[in-house]
Amino acid sequence: MLFDILKSRRSIRKFQNKEVEKEKIDVILKSALLSPSSRSIRPWQFIAVTDAVLIRQLSLCRGPASQFLSGAPLAIVVLADKTSSDAWIEDTSIAATIIQLTVQDLDLGSCWIQVRERFHTEQETAGDYIREVLEIPEQYRVECMIAIGYPAEEKKPYEESTLLYQKLHYNKF
Ligand SMILES: Cc1cc2nc3c(=O)[nH]c(=O)nc-3n(C[C@H](O)[C@H](O)[C@H](O)COP(=O)(O)O)c2cc1C
Repeated sequence: MLFDILKSRRSIRKFQNKEVEKEKIDVILKSALLSPSSRSIRPWQFIAVTDAVLIRQLSLCRGPASQFLSGAPLAIVVLADKTSSDAWIEDTSIAATIIQLTVQDLDLGSCWIQVRERFHTEQETAGDYIREVLEIPEQYRVECMIAIGYPAEEKKPYEESTLLYQKLHYNKF
């Protein structure tokens, strides 16, 4: 049940030294392509990175904040043509979330690494750094990277009793 997947999904930043099978990568990527998007423009692109040298380079994009990616066997970089839709941030975020939930359903773990509005150095954005590493054309903007692999850390699922029910409103605020 999707609700059980939502409760058990936690950010995983430590991964086993084990590849993600091609069949699973295919399912994850197809799930991303099933994402809804504003006016069905589907402005996103997805880059599945399994090359260890490239993953190491990507892990350097935000210093300590992205370092854990170096231990992941798979990263999916989520980007969009910013000129094709004014809702590209929403569209890429939805796709990234669908990727994370599919990953959870496949008994893998994942963690979002924020790229948009983040910096590699004082002069260079994290997105520009990634565009150079992966040879991404100029009109594309990177929203995030999803680090994926078999978990090497255990995290407790969320419990319904700890949900922030005070954030829920009925009819009026
Ligand atoms: C938009 C967004 C950006 C995030 N950026 C990062 C990040 O750059 N690095 C990181 O380690 N975790 C990042 N996370 C993961 C959050 O820290 C994590 O989801 C949050 O602490 C809740 O923990 P949980 O995922 O285990 O429920 C991000 C999550 C979201 C939704």
